[in-house]
Amino acid sequence: MELSTMQGACILTTGSAVPDSTISNHEISQVVDTSNEWIVTRTGIKERRLLTGCNQSVIDLAVLAAQRALKNIEMNPQEIDLIILATSSPNDLFGSASQVQAKIKAVNSVAFDLTAACSGFVLGLVTAAQFLQNGAYHTVLVIGADVLSKWIDWEDRSTCILFGDGAGAVIVQACSSLNNGILGFNLNTDGNYSHQLSISYKENRLVDFKPPIMQGAFDYITMNGKEIYKFAVSQVPLSILKCLQKLDINLDKVDWLLLHQANERILKAIADKLSIDLMKVISNVSKYGNTSAASIPLALDEAVQQDKIKKNDLIVISGFGAGLTWGTVIIKWTN
Ligand code: COA
Repeated sequence: MELSTMQGACILTTGSAVPDSTISNHEISQVVDTSNEWIVTRTGIKERRLLTGCNQSVIDLAVLAAQRALKNIEMNPQEIDLIILATSSPNDLFGSASQVQAKIKAVNSVAFDLTAACSGFVLGLVTAAQFLQNGAYHTVLVIGADVLSKWIDWEDRSTCILFGDGAGAVIVQACSSLNNGILGFNLNTDGNYSHQLSISYKENRLVDFKPPIMQGAFDYITMNGKEIYKFAVSQVPLSILKCLQKLDINLDKVDWLLLHQANERILKAIADKLSIDLMKVISNVSKYGNTSAASIPLALDEAVQQDKIKKNDLIVISGFGAGLTWGTVIIKWTN
């Protein structure tokens, strides 16, 4: 567990992208034994966007989200020093960030992938802030993007109802004020429970050397829904409280609670535990389902576009998911 404070990194702009294709609960119920009522009651999800068609990948969504963020502030991509692509569904196991860098023509930037499932964006944002805080870089593009539809077993009703595809991006820049932007963070990992939610590698082919070499491929998503639910509802409030406490900020000063959009019931249960009014909870899970690393920046961008978030608002952001990983970052909105 790492708890720290830091200053000097501000979000300048946001952008997001989702596939055009919408799949409703009704359409899913034509494929697996489920119903709109079951899905809405247990998760709050009504529909999700899925990447369809050939030769489309996480890159297409990540690029669009990044370009929209850049366009909002008319920033030249050559100003970007670093690109962090948080994704667990790259189109290349060596990483996809470099392809994003090439496509958006951010020729002066270094780019790398960060794999931390649904906590990926929070970890990416905190990583970006370190580079800004220590003066190594001035402008960082952080993208959360996932296309978990490619890793779902569409015959498994316990998982296929939950996930959707999407991307969200923020551009973070070094800022001088000590009390603005990213105020603090709290990050956690417990690998003892990694088996509760995973896309594991399975060996199935023997190459005839002496000694033999095993080869394999990645499996579909497997999940213990009940355990993940309990984990999120018990651990996320603790992370938020530790982070606020370290910064000496009272819960009643929180303007927005922006959680990883996994499930409406999880969002409500966490808000309830913290006695945070549901009016302060940002939620778009009904439209997009769980978009993994994309969910937080996608919801942030939507809230910004809708003019919900105002200058100086205090936003508590928490991600949680496979790993298991979970963490909080607290932001004072500076735009
Ligand atoms: N449609 C209809 N029935 C379903 C179903 C579906 N899509 N999925 C499971 N069921 C059935 C189960 O087979 C079970 O039937 P049984 O009682 O006859 O055995 C029953 O519904 C209850 O299943 P259970 O798994 O106990 O449901 P639940 O109340 O725990 O809800 C989740 C399941 C997945 C919605 C819930 O556990 C959850 O949201 N967990 C968190 C998952 C998550 O957010 N993961 C990502 C984190 S990043």
